[in-house]
Amino acid sequence: MATMESLIGLVNRIQRACTALGDYGGGDSALASLWDALPSVVVVGGQSSGKSSVLESIVGRDFLPRGSGIVTRRPLVLQLQKTEGGQEYAEFGHMPQRKFTDFCKFIVPKFIFSIALVRQEIQDETDRITGKSKQISPIPIHLSIFSPTEGQPESIVEDIEKMVRTYVDKPNSIILAISPANQDIATSDAIKLAKEVDPLGERTFGVLTKLDLMDKGTNALDVLEGRAYRLQHPWVGIVNRSQADIIKNTDMIYARRKEQEYFYTSTDYGHLASKMGSEYLAKLLSQHLESVIKAKIPGIISLINKGIEEMEAELDRLGRPIAVDDGAKLYTILELCRAFDKIFKEHLD
Ligand code: GDP
Ligand code: NA
Ligand code: MG
Repeated sequence: MATMESLIGLVNRIQRACTALGDYGGGDSALASLWDALPSVVVVGGQSSGKSSVLESIVGRDFLPRGSGIVTRRPLVLQLQKTEGGQEYAEFGHMPQRKFTDFCKFIVPKFIFSIALVRQEIQDETDRITGKSKQISPIPIHLSIFSPTEGQPESIVEDIEKMVRTYVDKPNSIILAISPANQDIATSDAIKLAKEVDPLGERTFGVLTKLDLMDKGTNALDVLEGRAYRLQHPWVGIVNRSQADIIKNTDMIYARRKEQEYFYTSTDYGHLASKMGSEYLAKLLSQHLESVIKAKIPGIISLINKGIEEMEAELDRLGRPIAVDDGAKLYTILELCRAFDKIFKEHLD
């Protein structure tokens, strides 16, 4: 039986292989389809709704594999910059020589990433992750998007929204929709977006943060019990660390315990306590991802095999053996694919 960690590890390795594939992964190749077939989790929500806190909490819970420096445990820092003119392109900080013109397809952090809906957030994100978190790799992935459009302030927001949309539009993405409880759910940015791209609520996980900040005498049972906005998956209420906790450097384990205590001693939420909190959310998401990935294994295997065939044909065309870099790269990828094929078949048993 495959463990969740090994499955997620595999998916991450495939994603890295697809990224390494670079030029070969574009267009209609089987490996490009493979990239699209892999599930991703997209965290959406308005400014300061608690996206970073939730993400931190989930990742801190070993939801994602540890070890080798993979993109999924690193923050994505988006930078939107004007260029003199011409093309729109993206560039990674670790790969400054290379321009990605088809950047929506190539943006790396497939599995988990956080994109803010507003400009200010980009700065916040950088500050929070690099400043406080010990659980996530402190090294952010810097992604700059160079756009020739004239920079009215709104265009930046629009650009970000457009980018968020390209992710959440993908049927394989799982939407983690973060809304703060101290704000009317009808005005939630996350729910507005989820409503548009996933009207049946099949791939949206509703997360309600800041329950502790609601006005005295009010509660969020209408939301948490699914009456205010219905989703197929259950809503999960969260109490993250407050700004004061962050300043005090409250550690995650302590914060988790306080969160549990909050729910178990609450007169409003006591009956829901076992299905509330960060730990439960991490478990729920993990189980869901596991079933999604498992269901995709047969499809992934056939895409890998198709990719192997395509690459073998390409190698034949180039004539083997070939000493040039391109050939070496293809061989490496081919070997990787064969290895994945073998491992995935083992996971099927
Ligand atoms: P983001 O902008 O969506 O990434 O939100 P952050 O995770 O950065 O949180 C914004 C601010 O709200 C921070 O000061 C957090 O400490 C605070 N915050 C987030 N969630 C909660 C919560 O559940 N309760 C309280 N009291 N504060 C929270
Ligand atoms: Na913030
Ligand atoms: Mg944030």
